Amino acid sequence: MSTSPSTPRNVLFLLASARVGGNAEQLARHAAQSLPAGTVVDWLRLEEHLREPFRDLRHAPGGYPKPGPEMLALIERTLAADELVFVAPIYWYALPSTAQHFLEHWSWWKRVPGLRFRERLEGKVLSLVTAHASDEDDVVTQPAIQSLKWSADYTGMHWRGALIGHGTAPGHVLSDTRALEAARDFFLRPVDNSVTRAA
Ligand SMILES: Cc1cc2nc3c(=O)[nH]c(=O)nc-3n(C[C@H](O)[C@H](O)[C@H](O)COP(=O)(O)O)c2cc1C
Repeated sequence: MSTSPSTPRNVLFLLASARVGGNAEQLARHAAQSLPAGTVVDWLRLEEHLREPFRDLRHAPGGYPKPGPEMLALIERTLAADELVFVAPIYWYALPSTAQHFLEHWSWWKRVPGLRFRERLEGKVLSLVTAHASDEDDVVTQPAIQSLKWSADYTGMHWRGALIGHGTAPGHVLSDTRALEAARDFFLRPVDNSVTRAA
């Protein structure tokens, strides 16, 4: 069976909030309930896997080191998914540092000889489930969305879109009826198949 970007079979939720069980996570768990039976669903709390600061060693003597076993396990868990979902609230009009930290590592991983990280990302789907505190105006989500859209484009991934919830304290999002409604078909709707820049 070929993989359609519209119906992910293996979804990795990348939890990037600085708290457990927050609004973005609750909204993502709500949306995940609509995934078809048989979908493999993985939840990964990024801060548990990225403890060291990212170092830009592109031009350093010797370049990047070979990733250790823990890092390689994270890479393979990432590449096992056919959809990567950032579950990331809005912090200061942007993605939280944990999400950014993960993306920074891609700059290393795509340079690991023999890994073919960039090529293996190609054709996967990228999406965002987010939450923020401004009830009325979703414009604060635009930098985070644009960042991920461009990252998808750069890596040859398909961009599904963003599911946006509202709230401050954990659980507020469960009163956001529009977000809950949108969550019901978020993973079932078609994905833009156009990839403007392949690796
Ligand atoms: C460090 C920090 C920065 C925040 N910056 C913004 C912001 O720029 N705009 C906004 O609407 N909400 C902002 N918020 C509020 C959160 O987006 C909101 O509480 C959200 O529900 C948190 O998501 P979570 O429950 O999934 O952790 C910020 C919260 C924190 C802790």
